[in-house]
Amino acid sequence: MRISLVAGNWKMNKTIAEARELVFKMSSPLREIQGVEKVLCPPFMSLLPVSALLEGSGIGLGAQNMHWEEKGAFTGEVSPLMLKEFCQYVILGHSERRTYFGETDEIVNRKLRAAQAFDLTPIVCVGETLEQYEAKQTSEVVARQISLGLKDVDPAFAPRIVVAYEPVWAIGTGKASSAENANRVHAQVVRPALSELYGNETAQAIRILYGGSVTASNAAEYFGQTDIDGALVGGTSLKTEDFVAITKAAARP
Ligand code: PGA
Repeated sequence: MRISLVAGNWKMNKTIAEARELVFKMSSPLREIQGVEKVLCPPFMSLLPVSALLEGSGIGLGAQNMHWEEKGAFTGEVSPLMLKEFCQYVILGHSERRTYFGETDEIVNRKLRAAQAFDLTPIVCVGETLEQYEAKQTSEVVARQISLGLKDVDPAFAPRIVVAYEPVWAIGTGKASSAENANRVHAQVVRPALSELYGNETAQAIRILYGGSVTASNAAEYFGQTDIDGALVGGTSLKTEDFVAITKAAARP
């Protein structure tokens, strides 16, 4: 049985004061919810103050990105060694990183192996663009992102990897993928690609989240599917009541 996971990707939103306020509001209702792994991913600046607020809450903390090297001359970057002090998770290869910052599958793979080296649970994002979707290239694109981005990891680490299938056309657009379409990609593309890399048993153990315009009103449809093991939530993760409702919908007591 895979434990569901709901992660909130705050993206570049909230000052430290605002982040503290949001966590202050969310943490008590979230900590009440059992049967689901809960993760908040605020901007780098807020990781330290938020980690203090989350201590002992059972709510995990994740970064939205990181460099693959431990230290060095990489102006403006943050290393896994630095994150390790506060975080248990890290989002890697988000489509905004791929689109605006030129992240390739090769870079995602280096970061994934750095997460392994520093014992951080990676949430690796994959997904096709609108153009690729319309050209019916989803399977090919997603399978390639997985085979290149997730290769060369230790078999003992592989089951800890979390994959988030996020069709780019569904991110921040309000045009969510249907639950059936997402489940089909999870079951027929993502899991077989994972199986190819790590074998079937490990592929069955890996959580595959859906992301892209998940809201309090559509969340339950996703979690009712066989191969959707949780959600990576962007915009709605900034709204306390809605994010709590999504997390409740994912719980499997
Ligand atoms: P969204 O973003 O929920 O705002 O569509 C999802 C994501 O980018 O992870």
